[in-house]
Amino acid sequence: MKTKIAGIETDYVGTASGCHDTTDEQCHELASACNFFTLKSCTLEPRIGNVEPRYAMLPIGTIQSMGLPDRGLVATLDTLESIKEKYGDKVKVKASIAGFSLKENIELLMAAFQDSQADFIEINVSCPNTDKSIIGHDFNSLDEFLWRVVDTVEGDIPVGLKLPFYGSLISHERLVAIIKRHDVSFITAINSIPGLWIDTWNESAVIAPNNGTGGIGGSYIMPFALNECRNYYNLLKGTDISLIGCGGISSGVDAYRFLLAGCDAVEVGSYLEQHGPSVITEINNDLSFQCKTRCYDSIDQIKGKLKTL
Ligand code: DHB
Repeated sequence: MKTKIAGIETDYVGTASGCHDTTDEQCHELASACNFFTLKSCTLEPRIGNVEPRYAMLPIGTIQSMGLPDRGLVATLDTLESIKEKYGDKVKVKASIAGFSLKENIELLMAAFQDSQADFIEINVSCPNTDKSIIGHDFNSLDEFLWRVVDTVEGDIPVGLKLPFYGSLISHERLVAIIKRHDVSFITAINSIPGLWIDTWNESAVIAPNNGTGGIGGSYIMPFALNECRNYYNLLKGTDISLIGCGGISSGVDAYRFLLAGCDAVEVGSYLEQHGPSVITEINNDLSFQCKTRCYDSIDQIKGKLKTL
């Protein structure tokens, strides 16, 4: 099913940042398999990230505290350029940026990507795994941040935010009130939710960084993601800000849930990480099947049509 994010046409199902996009080769695999994918959150300099083990599979999801390991800006721009050279406009690429200081890195990253061939730029205001605070949680700083980074840096590429889980309508209202004041074209909800898993055999956490706390992804977080998206859909009515859903999607039925909740598009994360890029076409096809068996042939006939009891 085709959709539009910030006015740009893409497939409904694409990929989340940080899943199967660590190396140049993996990014090229994504480009050959998907019509819309997201690059790993880019830092200015290359980074090693947190100590291992920093990723573990759980019964119905994953826990990770990678700590933003990254190839850095120069290598990421090279990858983006080579993908665009090969696939042109057939593939829509969302760059993701995660600078460490407002004044320098993020402005440099934003300026660099605004000058690139990226189709979208997503600012990760929700990474849970570094020693920096999560700017998405600090609404006063976020307002200033958006003015400095989104409104001030010149360029025509639509900019959006990857949001943390908030868990309350009042926070969603505050967030939407803030983004409406700035040049934000889309939001992606949600990032992984901080959590802990315990291996009782070893009486231990399962990842090393941060005393075992990491971002939980996969099926665990889908109901939370759906609730956030439904709230954002209602609050964003009458604006042209697009809503991208993310959190535990592994089938066309899951994508259909996010469509009913009001999402303009969805992204697959943990499931892609476990099964590789071919799942994106499968989920896109499965979603088309879900829509066609209900006699819908466009996204708009279903988007936000969730019934309540
Ligand atoms: C990492 C985790 C995230 O949830 C994210 O959005 C970006 C980076 C990480 O640990 O590397």
